Amino acid sequence: MDWKIKKNTKGLKGEIEVPPDKSISHRSVILGALANAKCHVSNFLFSDDCIRTLEAFRAMGIRIDQEGANITVFGKGLRGLKSPLDALCLGNSGTSMRVLSGVLAGQNFGTILIGDDSLNKRPMDRVIEPLSKMGAVIKPMEGGSHAPLKIEGKNSPLMPINYKMPMASAQVKTCVLIAGLYAQGLTSVTEPFQSRDHTERLLEYFSADIKRKGLTTEIRGLNELISKDFKIPADISSAAFFIIGCVLIEGSRIIFRNVGLNPTRVGIINVLKRMGADIEIINYESALEPVGDLNVSHSRLRGTTIEKHEIPLLIDEIPILSLAAVCATGQTVIKGINELKVKETDRVKSIVSNFKRMGIIVEEQEENLIIKGSYKTLKSDEFDSFGDHRIAMTMAIASLLSDGECVIKNTKCVDTSYPGFWEQLQQLQ
Ligand code: S3P
Repeated sequence: MDWKIKKNTKGLKGEIEVPPDKSISHRSVILGALANAKCHVSNFLFSDDCIRTLEAFRAMGIRIDQEGANITVFGKGLRGLKSPLDALCLGNSGTSMRVLSGVLAGQNFGTILIGDDSLNKRPMDRVIEPLSKMGAVIKPMEGGSHAPLKIEGKNSPLMPINYKMPMASAQVKTCVLIAGLYAQGLTSVTEPFQSRDHTERLLEYFSADIKRKGLTTEIRGLNELISKDFKIPADISSAAFFIIGCVLIEGSRIIFRNVGLNPTRVGIINVLKRMGADIEIINYESALEPVGDLNVSHSRLRGTTIEKHEIPLLIDEIPILSLAAVCATGQTVIKGINELKVKETDRVKSIVSNFKRMGIIVEEQEENLIIKGSYKTLKSDEFDSFGDHRIAMTMAIASLLSDGECVIKNTKCVDTSYPGFWEQLQQLQ
């Protein structure tokens, strides 16, 4: 499926609620299934990625009912999963594969995890290494460090470890913390920089024996999780596309309702404000996951430096943030971009090649991206998503700023995180 998108001349205007948070939706099914009773989750994201997680747990005997945008997960406790009849197919979803590895490492039945072509190329050694240290037997079936993964069943608890993560990754942290639920004693994970903390919050909310001390989180295994209902806010990573579209296109003003404003996810707002964006947070409520409305208007941006420690707080927003940098006056430096290269595509390559077609030069220097900024004209052309949802949506917003009509090829991937993106784009124009 291709999109044709014309230069926008009137601005983006309106009030929207973007889809529910993808990371929290995954965790709602995973921890809901492992908790002791049923859990009602309002506003679940029915996107391709989250449906993979949901179907995987159904295949392991968990009843999950759906009513509109809400689900009820009938948790059966840490030992309630059943051996699936077939391999679990996790499509494009890195979160499903890495976090499920942590769940399955502690089961008394074996499983096979398979991804699509993109997921089967992404590094899995980052979960294989800590899980193996915990005594799990987890092997790439075709060699290397990639899926398909075969995980053997275990009849005894895992061993607790103190794991120092080599990279800041919420997926890896979550994998180890959940495996820690199946270990006898205290497991700890230390990350080099703070990454999103939805897992820690939900584990605390479900009364897990978990403690946070700076960048270290400790969890005591083999304790029951006590189920409680909750609501998922809108995904700030999805909102980011229209937030930046709104800031960059003259005459724009959008109100975003119920956006998740977890401090470990608002890096994008902090950086945009630093660049001069007019973003006001209203109706802020602190809850399991803080939430609020955003009132965003067109503004002139200036370049900035994004430090390495800020990257995990806006990792999924870097493609669209690069577009903001292109239109800002002066230079933007994004430091510590290595993790971007192992996402659904090598996002550095995907950005550099698409931006080049628009006449924009993005310079890659070791671990940094340098964008000179002050571009006045973005050339219209044909772009490829390379099968990466966030690249498709970044190029959609870039097309609105172009000098004519653009085509974006291969846009089906957008359904992995943002079903309805195209419709909301029409609604705002
Ligand atoms: C996610 C964590 C991030 C992010 C991904 C979702 C999660 O990955 O890029 O879209 O739900 O934990 P890493 O933590 O591996 O960087």
